[in-house]
Amino acid sequence: MTARAVQPGSVIGVLGGGQLGRMFAMAARRMGYRVHTLAPEHDTPTGQIADVEVVASYDDVDRIREFARGVDVVTFEFENVSAAAVAAAEAHAIVRPNGRALEVAQHRIREKTYLQNLGLPVTPFAAVRSEVDLEDGIRKVGRPAVLKTATFGYDGKGQVRLGPHDAPINAWDQLGRQDAILEAFIDFERELSVVAARAVDGSVAAFVPIDNTHDRHILDVSIAPANVAPEIAAQAVEIATAVLQGLEYIGVLCVEFFLARDGRLLINEIAPRPHNSGHLTFDACRTSQFEQQVRAVCGWPLGSPELLQPAAMANLLGDLWAISEPNWAGALSMPNVKLHLYGKTVPRRGRKMGHLTVLAPTAREARARVLAARTALSP
Ligand SMILES: Nc1ncnc2c1ncn2[C@@H]1O[C@H](COP(=O)(O)OP(=O)(O)O)[C@@H](O)[C@H]1O
Ligand SMILES: [Mg+2]
Repeated sequence: MTARAVQPGSVIGVLGGGQLGRMFAMAARRMGYRVHTLAPEHDTPTGQIADVEVVASYDDVDRIREFARGVDVVTFEFENVSAAAVAAAEAHAIVRPNGRALEVAQHRIREKTYLQNLGLPVTPFAAVRSEVDLEDGIRKVGRPAVLKTATFGYDGKGQVRLGPHDAPINAWDQLGRQDAILEAFIDFERELSVVAARAVDGSVAAFVPIDNTHDRHILDVSIAPANVAPEIAAQAVEIATAVLQGLEYIGVLCVEFFLARDGRLLINEIAPRPHNSGHLTFDACRTSQFEQQVRAVCGWPLGSPELLQPAAMANLLGDLWAISEPNWAGALSMPNVKLHLYGKTVPRRGRKMGHLTVLAPTAREARARVLAARTALSP
């Protein structure tokens, strides 16, 4: 294993410039790596931490090729890089995770079909590429349902819910009639995620399942460990492991699940990178998801994913800045509160600006405390 490892002092290239890349770069620099990042903007959250920031479009195959030539290994913090760009990078550097994983994850129809073919439980779905598909799809998945664009959706963007009286065609019109996936709307008891990593030697390490609540389709609060039966937790980890093995994946990946009220555990989607729900691992686990990503992509043994204490994480969206600068002292005066900010200068509504983490004797208490800390930020 060590023979193929990317040695400290080498350069890791990160495609993408957001907060995931930022926290990855922090972990990488702590372990003695240099970091180059490529994104379409200047002074990105990742760029502020990286040694070198390249400003280029993700479609600019020439610039991506040049970028890959200047680094020892390429990874992603943003999954919507074109297949052509990934292929260009693969011609000049090791790319982890591999292009196949990206291809699967960036297209919702491919993703659900792939997972279903692996024999894994997914939300009932139908591919929609025509009006006939749409009608057949409604018959197959029933109502309520949700129609999602096949590509480029995030934080609930590109999704329309279909109630009992909504005309499916109007929903598809709203999405510009692009390729879409129709899914049964799951009456879930809770949403869970499993963040896990696979190393070059095929070994897998999973963090405990995390319980996630969303607000306006944006992740709001995560707590660990999730309050589910041990069999459910084990099943979720087993499914995540099967995804990592199926894709021959190297790196950190997240599987998002619905735990339906009838007890079924269904995959909602996968993210081929560290995940917002895993941010609490930074403060709460023996190894963070970002260090784990450094270890995996550089070919080292994985670290222990052990949860040291129950934890909760609350996202800080741009909305919090609507009236004035948040009252930082209000939260920082509370014991155990950790503040993470991503260096973004424009606090748009719904934009992820940072998060708070709290550790406590129980996950329930951690949740109450992190919510209190976030409330204290409001001026
Ligand atoms: N089929 C579904 N049934 C119930 N809730 C859903 C469904 N699809 C999405 N949602 C809700 O919307 C959120 C965001 O949807 P998701 O498919 O994860 O897209 P993305 O995170 O890429 O925006 C989910 O976490 C969940 O809360
Ligand atoms: Mg999601």
